[in-house]
Amino acid sequence: MIKKIHTAADIDVLTTSIPLAHFGHVAINAFVLHGREPVLVDTGMVQQRDLFMSALREVIDPAELRWIWLTHTDFDHIGALQALLDENPKIRVITSFLGVGIMSLAAPLPMDRVYLVSPGDKLTLADRTLTAFRPPAFDNPSTLGFHDDKSRALFSSDAFGACLPSPPERAEDLAEDELREGQVFWASVDSPWLHKVDRGILARELDVVRRMEPALVLSSHLAPASGRTLERLLSALESVPAAPPFVGPNQAALEAMMQAAAA
Ligand SMILES: [Fe+2]
Ligand SMILES: [Fe+2]
Repeated sequence: MIKKIHTAADIDVLTTSIPLAHFGHVAINAFVLHGREPVLVDTGMVQQRDLFMSALREVIDPAELRWIWLTHTDFDHIGALQALLDENPKIRVITSFLGVGIMSLAAPLPMDRVYLVSPGDKLTLADRTLTAFRPPAFDNPSTLGFHDDKSRALFSSDAFGACLPSPPERAEDLAEDELREGQVFWASVDSPWLHKVDRGILARELDVVRRMEPALVLSSHLAPASGRTLERLLSALESVPAAPPFVGPNQAALEAMMQAAAA
C-alpha cells in the first residue's frame, strides 16, 4: 500500500515501507512538488510500479508533470521512471552524469529527455529554484539531492533515513532514542563507508546542511521532518563513525533462523 501525506503548502509525499529482515521497517518516499512546472522526486520501487502509478494519479495527473528529479538510480527510486517517460513525452529527468551512465546499463535515458546537474548547480523553474547538493550520506555515486527555495525543503535522498519498528507520519513524533538508533542503524547499512570517514570532515559536511537552514527535511527513507528536528538528524549521523558497523547474517545464521522459524 502507498499512502499520501500532504506535508507542505505544495508538496505531497507518496510513502510505503518495507521490512528489513527482522531489524525494522524503512519508509520509501517519493514527492510531488505542485506548481507551474510540477516536479516528481523519484518514482517508487520497481516491484510496486503499478501501485505507484495509481497512487500518483490520486495527487496529480501525470500529464501535468514537467520534471522528474531522480535522486539516484537504485531500485527503490526508479520504479515508474520508464512508465512515466513513455506516458508523458514532456517530462525531463534531472539527474547527474553518473545517473545517466548507470541507467544506460538497464534502461538508457534518451539524452534529449535528460537535464544534467552537478553539486551546486541551480535549476530555475517557473516558480522555484532548485539547488543540487551531494547529501552527507549516500549509497550510490549518482546521488544528488536538492534544496527548494520556495518551500525551503531539503530533499536528502537516502541520507537521514531510519529503520524503525513502524514508520510514523512525522519524524518529530519519534522519541529521541528511537529516531537516533533508527538513523544510526540505517546509515550503517546504507552508507557503511561512514565508519571509515574522518570525523572532522563529516562534521563539516553536516555543517553545510545546517547552514542551509531547511524548514523541512524530506528524506527518501524517513517521514517528513520539520526544521526543528534538524539538529537531532545531524547529531545522529555525526555519531555513526563511532557506532558498530552493520554485518548481515551469514549462511549459518540464516540456517539457524530458518530452523527456528520451522520449529
Ligand atoms: Fe540508495
Ligand atoms: Fe533509497
